[in-house]
Amino acid sequence: MGKWIKRAVTALLVLSVLAAAVVYTGIQLAQRRMDRRIDVKVAPVAYRDDAQSLERGRYLFQSRGCTECHGANGAGRVFAEDDNGLKLAGPNITSGPGSVTVNYQPVDWVRTLRHGVKPDGRPALVMPSEDYARWTDTDVAAVVAHVRQLPSARGRGATLELPTIARVLYGFGQIPEAAEQIDHTLPPALPVAVAVSVEHGKYVAGMCIGCHGANLSGGKIPGTPPDWPPAANLTPGEGSAMVRYGGAEPFVAMMRSGKRPDGTAVSAVMPFTALAQMNDTDMRALHLYLKSVPPRSAGGR
Ligand code: HEC
Ligand code: HEC
Repeated sequence: MGKWIKRAVTALLVLSVLAAAVVYTGIQLAQRRMDRRIDVKVAPVAYRDDAQSLERGRYLFQSRGCTECHGANGAGRVFAEDDNGLKLAGPNITSGPGSVTVNYQPVDWVRTLRHGVKPDGRPALVMPSEDYARWTDTDVAAVVAHVRQLPSARGRGATLELPTIARVLYGFGQIPEAAEQIDHTLPPALPVAVAVSVEHGKYVAGMCIGCHGANLSGGKIPGTPPDWPPAANLTPGEGSAMVRYGGAEPFVAMMRSGKRPDGTAVSAVMPFTALAQMNDTDMRALHLYLKSVPPRSAGGR
């Protein structure tokens, strides 16, 4: 073997050993990160079962994304899968076989929904609790009321299979969980009147921040596969998607149909099955609010 070939082979060997060491370390760190305990102070919200709560709860469950990952019957559902080793499914949250909520107390629902932390203190990895963290007590009680009265169904725990690269990135702290994005010290949000108002729109837009970023300017959604499009800029700044939606009508039509005014399809990463269930007041309030936020350049999140 020539000297140069020998050197190249040695360099390649060293590099692959290093790469293997990084991957190995990343996977160990990921396991440790997933198993760590997060201590949050949680104020329970009392169970309710009045008709108004149940009605509101059903609406929230359908329009705020829960059904996309937990299924309309709450038994769990595969919501992301590809050929690179990604498979994600929400767990069974009814009281049937395979349930993860069968021993839940009022405080446990709040810990999961508002804080992204499971009853044993470990973080939820994928569930977008940052979208629900600012829900009012009334809305938390409503969605819990709805889930608790779902008929017992057979299901299983969550499926959380991630491609190696995603596990390594997670291990090295590059993919934040909901629990890390939430300010756990804030008191519950106070109710605002349900109306076509900027204030109510801001409340509804809470469910967009996990993907579009806390400032709604979009960008790559952390932890998503490379072929997923970046979330759009919802502020009026440079690169804004909202230039297509001057009036509320085309905005509402797109949110319900998944189609832009020119007929092209918005990526199915947007949870259109849920969004199609959102009522007119919430939609119009959202539009008003998005038109009122300060401009930011696309991708600043
Ligand atoms: C994008 C998918 C997604 C959405 C939307 C979602 N969940 Fe989840 N949920 C999950 C996954 C995945 C888990 C398993 C925990 C994790 O993330 O590691 C989970 C866990 C849970 C748990 C059990 C946590 C435990 O293990 O103790 C409850 C309860 C729950 N979700 C309720 C809800 C409700 C109610 C909504 C709507 C307000 C909702 N989820 C929206 C994906 C989702
Ligand atoms: C699960 C992630 C996710 C959630 C939740 C989500 N979005 Fe999106 N959204 C995206 C992605 C990704 C795109 C970019 C799609 C594309 O480029 O085709 C997008 C695009 C958009 C667009 C641009 C459409 C166009 O004309 O190109 C608007 C407007 C929008 N989202 C509004 C919202 C609002 C309002 C909410 C909350 C009610 C929301 N989204 C919730 C992921 C999400």
